[in-house]
Amino acid sequence: MTGMKPLIVGNWKMNGLTGALAQVEKLGEKLRQQTVRADIAICPPATLLARLTEVARPLGIATGGQDCHFRVTGPHTGDISAQMLADAGASYAIAGHSERRADHTETDALVRAKAEAVIDAGLVPIICVGETERERSRGEAIDVVARQLIGSVPQVAAEKTVVIGYEPIWAIGTGVTPTLDDIAHMHENLRRILVERFGAAGRGIHLLYGGSMKPQNAAGILAVPEVNGGLIGGASLLADDFFEIISAA
Ligand code: PGA
Repeated sequence: MTGMKPLIVGNWKMNGLTGALAQVEKLGEKLRQQTVRADIAICPPATLLARLTEVARPLGIATGGQDCHFRVTGPHTGDISAQMLADAGASYAIAGHSERRADHTETDALVRAKAEAVIDAGLVPIICVGETERERSRGEAIDVVARQLIGSVPQVAAEKTVVIGYEPIWAIGTGVTPTLDDIAHMHENLRRILVERFGAAGRGIHLLYGGSMKPQNAAGILAVPEVNGGLIGGASLLADDFFEIISAA
């Protein structure tokens, strides 16, 4: 972790009904009892975003969407625009999560257009990149992720806040994580590319690690140089686990 204030983001994915709001209240109670160093955000399903924001905002927890369309309005049944996420109270929106890239064949170009839409709506995009197990075993991880980063991050990142999430696909939801050396190597490379492209602004971009981050491994991962926070799926659903990760930052 560098001098940057860590950012811990919970990605609830397609989990959470009204009852899950109680977890946010519980998290809030814990945050009242102990000061933490990190900024915190939760990205619930869109159906919960407005209500969760009402609960989370007074607790100092930001919220975000998990995806959005790249257009502002129009004939796109079932889609949600970044402006709508902002209207529902979001501060962030994830763009290009590997599950969206896989389930909805999202390309780098589309992810970049979404990230631009997120920025235009006044929100901060969390742009995700990450290699498959096959790519890693072939020794291609660094190159694949570099290509995704270059293709998915819009040029406007030189002036606007963006966050990058590095999530090796084979580590998501599997309980398996890369070695700390592998994470360090990847994050150093991502930083180098961002600084080459955006100069000083590239130094200030948060690089989150995601993929099976848990209370047990969070402190180790969050201490890796150039890891500026975490993007947490499964372990963000329960207040106890999520709080432990937040306090490890
Ligand atoms: P996980 O998911 O923490 O459940 O592995 C992380 C993510 O996909 O954002």
